[in-house]
Amino acid sequence: MGSGHNFSYLATMFSRLFGRRKKEDSQYDNLPVPETANWGVLGADMHSHFLPGIDDGSKSLEESIVLLRTMADMGYSTIITTPHVMIDYYPNTTKTITDALHTVQAAIKEQNINIQLRAAAEYYIDDYFTQLLENEPLLTIHKNEVLVEFSMMFEPPMLATTLFNMQTAGYKPIIAHPERYVFFHRDLSKYQELKDRGCLLQMNMLSIAGYYGQNIKMVAEQLLSKGMYDYCGSDAHHEKHLAVLNAMGRSRDYHKITGYPFLNSRLSV
Ligand SMILES: [Fe+2]
Repeated sequence: MGSGHNFSYLATMFSRLFGRRKKEDSQYDNLPVPETANWGVLGADMHSHFLPGIDDGSKSLEESIVLLRTMADMGYSTIITTPHVMIDYYPNTTKTITDALHTVQAAIKEQNINIQLRAAAEYYIDDYFTQLLENEPLLTIHKNEVLVEFSMMFEPPMLATTLFNMQTAGYKPIIAHPERYVFFHRDLSKYQELKDRGCLLQMNMLSIAGYYGQNIKMVAEQLLSKGMYDYCGSDAHHEKHLAVLNAMGRSRDYHKITGYPFLNSRLSV
């Protein structure tokens, strides 16, 4: 793509986004800002890293308990937590995940924390994932739906093939935080392609808060306004993420998220 084309594309995208945002903001201006964060209307959170010591999320059982108590305080009734499965960094298996899950489930019961905790995984698409797919059942979010992520730096060459192979094996891919893959930003039709391939799209709530930067926020708002998302998730790893989620719950961003028909509520028990 030449630089002239790039510039006109960006100019068009920004004018569309700013035009749309102005309209959206005025739509939310009339709604009250909540005094306390209550995400209970979503019911379930389906993307987080709350199991201790097995990925880059919670580091200890104590931290897991604090994080889950905070989620319960913010109104969530169900958490499907999703440790990374990434061979080079977090070589988790169904066993490492379910063992950690059982430990945390026992602790929340003992401490009377009113939340249902389940576990699935966030699978990183690479050659190892291809092997996993061929050799063992995957952990699912709901029915046959499997949460996947991939490199944020470049589009993996095997992406389309892997998504196709997942579907052939009977799974429905949920693409984690599509707004964070910056190589898609230059061509927003890539998102429609993923939808057309039968993938579900999961928005990170923190993207709307601008936590990952303005470009990611703008793309998330655009996908949201076009109705392209299916699920939303906190993707919370630690208390700082939950503090942002809490602040969002006391801002007009609350309405942007709760006003959208996310499928999360079908996950709550
Ligand atoms: Fe994640």
